[in-house]
Amino acid sequence: MNPYIEAFKQKFNYNPSLFRSPGRINLIGDHTDYNDGYVLPAAIDKGIYLAISLNDTNHCRIQSLDFEDEAEVELSQDLQPTTKGWLNYILGVITQFQSSGYQIKGFDCVFGGDIPIGAGLSSSAALECVTVRALMELHGIEIPLIQQIQMAQKAEHEFAGVKCGIMDQFASAMGKAGQAIQLDCRTLDFQYIPVHLEDFSLILVDSKVKHNLGDSAYNKRQQECQEGFKLIQNSYPGIRALRDVDSDMLLGLKPDLDPIIFKRCKHVVSENQRVLHASAALKNGNLKELGRLMFLSHTSLSNDYQVSCNELDFLVNVAQLSEGVLGARMMGGGFGGCTINLIHKDFVDLFKTKVSSTFYNKFSLSPGIYEVSISEGTSRIHCL
Ligand code: GLA
Repeated sequence: MNPYIEAFKQKFNYNPSLFRSPGRINLIGDHTDYNDGYVLPAAIDKGIYLAISLNDTNHCRIQSLDFEDEAEVELSQDLQPTTKGWLNYILGVITQFQSSGYQIKGFDCVFGGDIPIGAGLSSSAALECVTVRALMELHGIEIPLIQQIQMAQKAEHEFAGVKCGIMDQFASAMGKAGQAIQLDCRTLDFQYIPVHLEDFSLILVDSKVKHNLGDSAYNKRQQECQEGFKLIQNSYPGIRALRDVDSDMLLGLKPDLDPIIFKRCKHVVSENQRVLHASAALKNGNLKELGRLMFLSHTSLSNDYQVSCNELDFLVNVAQLSEGVLGARMMGGGFGGCTINLIHKDFVDLFKTKVSSTFYNKFSLSPGIYEVSISEGTSRIHCL
């Protein structure tokens, strides 16, 4: 018996439906999505599971297995963010349905999963996406996929206070086994790119430094990008976002830009180029080039965008000095979480041992090490 269905039955004494939405990795392209740029994420084989059923009342009984916490929510009143962080993602999604004119009925649910929380693998986007999908299906509502993804993203903006881009929700909802998604975050045009790793593996190393996007400089970085964009737009009125800026334009304006703002823009402009080159490399089976671009991405995120931390820099440095490693970079919002490493299978064990012991010696902390494979996006697993 599935553990989430089992937990639901124990709590509520009847049978639920079960939905799943995965976490994501990002091969390359960080802090580009909210600048209308390019990203190259993929869904992974770790996810959030939601066992859920309508309950013929006007309130919701919601249980989080991982936080060992629960809540009851009355649907007749206006929903507001609460002090329970985990609950806000679900409330945010309910509110999105309500503000789109759908009437949401009471439900019971139990959720949990195996995405390490706060590790930069987008457990929050997975929870939002799985809730959107489940509420749609239980209420017989049909909403185009792109709009579902935008509802999940808006739930995060309004109830978690993080003005995130669209990458995480897109990857969680749209993932395909064995394929990365090259996404244009302006047009939302995308293509699946098969990830043939041959003798290589993707290994995540979790620094265990908990990033908290809301409290961190994430929103500040967005403001800095906006500031840079506005200044550049004075000279190039045709541009609509940093995505439209190239390195010559930026270099020409260097004397007019605050040095910090220049660095932020430099990262975005160069990272967009790297995503396009990395996609081409992946299509051509050139993993060496992909790895090289990953290292460059890290340097740019660390030096120019300044969203890394000592622990992440250390992990990438160890990777760079290890045999069999083609590339490594911090991944996601930053300030903690995971690095993603592209490593030859013959050297994975050696790498794991080396990274664990050197990291422990330096920080007195054991890193988490996860080998991930690329999986399907949001799905219904079991229906009543
Ligand atoms: C977080 C956000 C994404 C994206 C990344 C950085 O994961 O949710 O939208 O901005 O950071 O690339």
